[in-house]
Amino acid sequence: MNDYSFDDYKRYLEEHLADLLPDIDPKSITLYEAMKYSLQAGGKRIRPVLLLAACDFCGGRIEEALPYACAIEYIHTYTLIHDDLPCMDDDDLRRGVPTNHKVYGEAVATLAGDGLQSAAYEIMQRDTLLYLDDPEALKKRIRAAYEITKGCGCRGVVAGQIADIEAEDRSCSQEMLDFIHVNKTAAMIVAAVRAGARMGNPDPDMLENLTVYAENLGLAFQIRDDILDVIGDEAELGKKTGHDSETLKATYPALYGLEASMDRLKDLTEKAIGALAGYYDNAELFTDLARQLEVRGK
Ligand code: IPE
Ligand code: IPE
Ligand code: MG
Ligand code: MG
Ligand code: MG
Repeated sequence: MNDYSFDDYKRYLEEHLADLLPDIDPKSITLYEAMKYSLQAGGKRIRPVLLLAACDFCGGRIEEALPYACAIEYIHTYTLIHDDLPCMDDDDLRRGVPTNHKVYGEAVATLAGDGLQSAAYEIMQRDTLLYLDDPEALKKRIRAAYEITKGCGCRGVVAGQIADIEAEDRSCSQEMLDFIHVNKTAAMIVAAVRAGARMGNPDPDMLENLTVYAENLGLAFQIRDDILDVIGDEAELGKKTGHDSETLKATYPALYGLEASMDRLKDLTEKAIGALAGYYDNAELFTDLARQLEVRGK
């Protein structure tokens, strides 16, 4: 296992993030520019770092997990571009810069999201094709790609996003709110961790414990996102605050108030950390990250 920090993994990812995009015909340069605009605007890179760290944790090689780490960041970035569109959350600021549609217009932004999503599948499939004659290596890759595909799809992120849109300006049960958060956000965090683990050699307990960690961290992450919409600093966050209450979104603070939201966030963070307690210092990156995300300001 490498002794890499969050920033080491992040640096490694960012060195390759744009290079792994499929070559695009110069005649579609606008598409390519719009895709790169959002991809390179920054972002915390939580999901790809979790993927690389989980691969490392399970004894895999991060060089082999790189296409999957880039794929998950392409998909995440596409969800942000589409989430910001006027027909969705209608946001003007993302990652500290104007949203994709503010710069390129709605049609191009929609296509930039489509392009990023399909680029993710292309690089995963391209990697899989290299291992057709190596059944063990091939199995890992098919499993990793499946985790990502399932997490971002119509019983993951997309299911969460439609429930989020439909819950606007309506009363929302606790069960429905959890459905929204688990799907729109936790699903990709679970996918990142499980896909990374699949690129190593996880025993069943390890995979299960990492999954419990990611499920709790994922829900905690969205609750903190909801809280930051109320108490966050726009400049630090790089996106507008107060937007959820303006648009009557179903959020933790809206349903339960800030204090109860903070309590739930703390409880989920403890559960995430507890899931990996048996691994002591080997799981330090994961447990430190959970603690940092609990109090993050961006
Ligand atoms: C924002 O995700 C969307 C949510 C799921 C809350 P991040 O907070 O990870 O956004 P970036 O990638 O750092 O911009
Ligand atoms: C979006 O949740 C989650 C996805 C993009 C799938 P939010 O709508 O709360 O995310 P922000 O606050 O715009 O980043
Ligand atoms: Mg949204
Ligand atoms: Mg939004
Ligand atoms: Mg939000």
